[in-house]
Amino acid sequence: MAKDKVLVTGGAGFLGSHLCDRFIKEGYHVIAMDNLITGSLDNIEHLMANPDFEYYHCDVSKFVHVPGDLKYILHFASPASPIDYLKMPIQTLKVGSLGTHNLLGLAKAKGARMLIASTSEVYGDPLEHPQKETYWGNVNPVGPRGVYDEAKRFQEAMTMAYHTFHGVETRIVRIFNTYGPRMRLDDGRVLPAFIGQALQGKDLTIFGDGSQTRSFCYVDDLVEGIYRLLLSDYAQPVNIGNPDEITIGEFAEEIIRLTGTDQKVVYKPLPQDDPKQRRPDIRVAREVLGWEPKYARSEGLKPTYEYFKKKILTTEQAK
Ligand SMILES: NC(=O)c1ccc[n+]([C@@H]2O[C@H](COP(=O)([O-])OP(=O)(O)OC[C@H]3O[C@@H](n4cnc5c(N)ncnc54)[C@H](O)[C@@H]3O)[C@@H](O)[C@H]2O)c1
Repeated sequence: MAKDKVLVTGGAGFLGSHLCDRFIKEGYHVIAMDNLITGSLDNIEHLMANPDFEYYHCDVSKFVHVPGDLKYILHFASPASPIDYLKMPIQTLKVGSLGTHNLLGLAKAKGARMLIASTSEVYGDPLEHPQKETYWGNVNPVGPRGVYDEAKRFQEAMTMAYHTFHGVETRIVRIFNTYGPRMRLDDGRVLPAFIGQALQGKDLTIFGDGSQTRSFCYVDDLVEGIYRLLLSDYAQPVNIGNPDEITIGEFAEEIIRLTGTDQKVVYKPLPQDDPKQRRPDIRVAREVLGWEPKYARSEGLKPTYEYFKKKILTTEQAK
């Protein structure tokens, strides 16, 4: 019998490639769609020879086509780190709006269930802490992060409209900071930045005074939460993240201990609209999906560190 097909947009990216792995493992036929503006074929190289895996090079903001049946669509294509979406503001707005619209059209035509990758950024610089799904957010639409935050807010609204108006089965995951192997060292996010600086013998840069907080979720936990949400019958947004909150100052110390570096911490001014605190309220995920994170930072950071160490080594050897 033919296997059910799953389309993962942004499949050559950090999260998309882990989702491809998971769906292959669960016995699906997986199509990864990507235009590689921030992703890399390195992330899916190990899947290329698998007969249950296909790669389509495609800009989903323009047009999407998949022949035959499709059971699930996971829309993960989008520049995701501030450094990327500040460089590509129009593509970011387009993939969240036009790309989402194209994929919802595909879901409707195929009778597929579609899950979209939303983000904790829909809460902006939150005035409520921790953030529950019922919080509407505090976003500056014309600030530098507005291109990402508003694209994602529009994406949620469009998805909900297709659900209520066209009866398309949809799921919305609001992802909080996630980390793990296959992140890019130069994506500007704090975790690869700190590990990369420590491994390259540079001082660790903190933007602001280090009192701002983040909570980091290991990628395997996130993928499990997404898998459960997709298979659930819950169409409202669900936060998936790790509520274990840490200040950036404490986190820098943790990375210094992990890597054994003798580098110090240096401080630079905080960028505009940088959220001061972030922590998911995961009661809905617990109650509806029976999900909670399993990996402590100390466990998730080890394979991540090993991945970056190997990456730096192979890059240096290739020079
Ligand atoms: N990583 C996180 O912590 C996090 C947090 C919240 C939300 N998200 C969301 O999860 C998704 C994946 O994030 P990531 O961290 O894996 O980022 P990533 O940059 O590694 O992956 C995104 C992928 O999308 C591709 N892409 C971008 N625009 C495209 C287009 N128009 N057509 C086809 N492909 C396109 C990129 O080439 C890349 O491979 C994004 O939608 C992001 O907003 C991620």
